[in-house]
Amino acid sequence: MKWWPFLLLMALLACEDRETPKGTFSLPEIPANFPIPDSIRFLSEQSIHQIELGRALFFDRGLSRDSSVSCASCHKQALAFGDGLAFSIGAHGGSGRRNAPPLFNLFYPQLFFKDGGIPRLEEVAMAPMDDHHELDLPLQDLSLRLRTSTFYVDEIKRIYNREPDPYSITRALMWFQLSLVSANSRYDDYQYRDKKEVLNAQERRGLDLFLSAHTQCASCHSGPNFTDFQFHNVGLNMEAHLDTGRARITINPADFARFKTPSLRNLGFSAPYMHDGRYSNLEQVLAYYNGGGDGYPGQDARIKPLGLTEKELEDLEAFLYSLNDSVFVNHAAYQPLGGSQD
Ligand code: HEC
Ligand code: HEC
Repeated sequence: MKWWPFLLLMALLACEDRETPKGTFSLPEIPANFPIPDSIRFLSEQSIHQIELGRALFFDRGLSRDSSVSCASCHKQALAFGDGLAFSIGAHGGSGRRNAPPLFNLFYPQLFFKDGGIPRLEEVAMAPMDDHHELDLPLQDLSLRLRTSTFYVDEIKRIYNREPDPYSITRALMWFQLSLVSANSRYDDYQYRDKKEVLNAQERRGLDLFLSAHTQCASCHSGPNFTDFQFHNVGLNMEAHLDTGRARITINPADFARFKTPSLRNLGFSAPYMHDGRYSNLEQVLAYYNGGGDGYPGQDARIKPLGLTEKELEDLEAFLYSLNDSVFVNHAAYQPLGGSQD
């Protein structure tokens, strides 16, 4: 007789088991006021299946010709999906030309890459696949390789009702990347959860400076992701390593050395900074802005000597670090199912 509550519980659990979708993926908590498309905030079961497939692909070294690197080799969760290097190391040990950016909040409309050369998120994966220094395994070849894996054949059949092919691979990778939501920094508590006490006096002074007409930081680093998604030339000297930036795509001389404004979220995890990783810490970046830039041709007029004191620079830095999201870099659902990461 005394067993019945236990049996009832078992029966309930068994029921729940049948109804729960196979998926194990869940997003980090998202503040109610945080601007994010509903298709991400309220993921459908189909989206969850795509995310889980994309996650398997993202961490799979089989995506590179010599099976030595995966997307995650250059985009590591602990580093907000950057890689901590000025230039990444790809297949065959080759070195790239730009700093790998951290990946999060990719659902905002934008062009991808620092020069905006890629218009759609589902197309981004093809660039490292084609690059001999990165994955070096073009999408067609990868499709054929995945057709020899029962795991991918079964999953792609179940989710897309087709064989592993460029469509299914790029869509799944896109969905995993769309799922990378960073909205749990202390600044987000302050701004979107209305917990004004979360930022201390120093961080609030830094925020005021950041928003001020004097620094003009927020004129380019604007909006919820701290970027206007536009291209600007902040005047960095490029004698050592020329990169024409946005002009590489538009062939317009006015776009010379303009780069996409990076988000300022998660800077505490994503050093080194700038398109070529030239600055290894935030003090150096702030000293650069405070000094008024290198004055390289085409430098934006907003970059000018600011005359900030040591204390003001420390305040600004403290504010920027309040945008670190430790929930994001530890969120279990962004890790490969089987355990260890690259
Ligand atoms: C060898 C290192 C390397 C590998 C492997 C790699 N990436 Fe990247 N990734 C980079 C670099 C470097 C950039 C910056 C390129 C640029 O701006 O010109 C980048 C840029 C991106 C961006 C653009 C982000 C933005 O804000 O514009 C996305 C998205 C991305 N990678 C996703 C992926 C995916 C998905 C894979 C696996 C299919 C992958 N990467 C594999 C190094 C790598
Ligand atoms: C004219 C637009 C503009 C203004 C004003 C501006 N920035 Fe930037 N910022 C950029 C661009 C563009 C980059 C990327 C440059 C590159 O990759 O070479 C950048 C890079 C950065 C980086 C490095 C981020 C990374 O991930 O590499 C930090 C930090 C930063 N800015 C903070 C600030 C602060 C603080 C201010 C105000 C003092 C400021 N910015 C003013 C456009 C601007």
